[in-house]
Amino acid sequence: MSAKTDTHLPWRRPRRLRRNPVIRGLVRETRLTPDRLVLPLFVVEGTDVSVPIGAMPGHARLSIDRVVARCEEGLALGVGAFALFPALDDALKTPGADVAVDPDNLLCRTVRAVKEALPEAYLATDVALDPYSSVGHDGLVAHGEVINDETVEMLARMAVLHGQAGADMVAPSDMMDGRVAAIRAALDSNGLTDVSILSYTAKYASAFYDPFREALESAPVDAPDVPPDKKTYQMDPANAREALVEARLDEEEGADVLMVKPALPYLDVIHRLRQATSLPIAAYHVSGEYAMLHAAAERGWLDERKCTTEALLGIARAGADVIFTYSALDFARWYREGSA
Ligand code: PBG
Repeated sequence: MSAKTDTHLPWRRPRRLRRNPVIRGLVRETRLTPDRLVLPLFVVEGTDVSVPIGAMPGHARLSIDRVVARCEEGLALGVGAFALFPALDDALKTPGADVAVDPDNLLCRTVRAVKEALPEAYLATDVALDPYSSVGHDGLVAHGEVINDETVEMLARMAVLHGQAGADMVAPSDMMDGRVAAIRAALDSNGLTDVSILSYTAKYASAFYDPFREALESAPVDAPDVPPDKKTYQMDPANAREALVEARLDEEEGADVLMVKPALPYLDVIHRLRQATSLPIAAYHVSGEYAMLHAAAERGWLDERKCTTEALLGIARAGADVIFTYSALDFARWYREGSA
């Protein structure tokens, strides 16, 4: 450890590897490319419809034709994967979330339309009951509780319908116990062995989902016998070890990819899962994370491009292979311009 010179000058100088863009490029540890990103999209009924989402500037609920156009734009920019979420009319929502298992529901029609127009678009569908539920929970509610096993049966039926419509990947975001095994079994027994499962493995009961719930008008309703929040199924933000329990179960049950959500407040969880499994890890840079950056950028307080790029890079550096982000197309444009 002793200095090799007589002077007090430092012997080791890490700054040598930061002197110019070429050497920085040579030693760069993490590279972010658009092909690691998944763009979430919200679908509504109608034609040529675009309904802005207040807390998500640049994002809107889009009719199927517009979703197809957005996917085409993504593909041209090198973003080939899309996560689809249906924003249903309130009149279609029921306590039993019946429309979730209608093979002609908005989500299934969207999958068919996108696949027909753009067979190369990779589609991940959301499997949870909240977009279809009049009480705003990811599962069925009975006697004031979100009931697990009855919900899992419905989720498995949903996943089969999504697979039959042409989804490449189903993404259970509900946090019920045992749903990955049930979905895998249902897919396989229906000949859908090629449909993969991205499990929302460590999904936290986070306050960062509010803009998304605004987009789908899917927040839990304030009513007697309806749990006021999702804390009995989504994870406690204080827990990280528990994420390893969920990860082991999802892996045993047959998940292909494990997700951590949200991303930035849970980088340690991404890192731990990265070390605990050889499966690919995904992270969801959620609506509230997007809203924070954009609100500051709109005020001129932060540089949107630089801060978004840094945030996505941090998520990748923590260990996420795949990143779900509302900034996917923005990043792809910056990347193409050489400014990301
Ligand atoms: C619900 C679901 C949520 C998100 C994805 N799926 C919200 C919730 O759990 O209440 C949030 C995504 C985001 O905030 O961007 N199944």
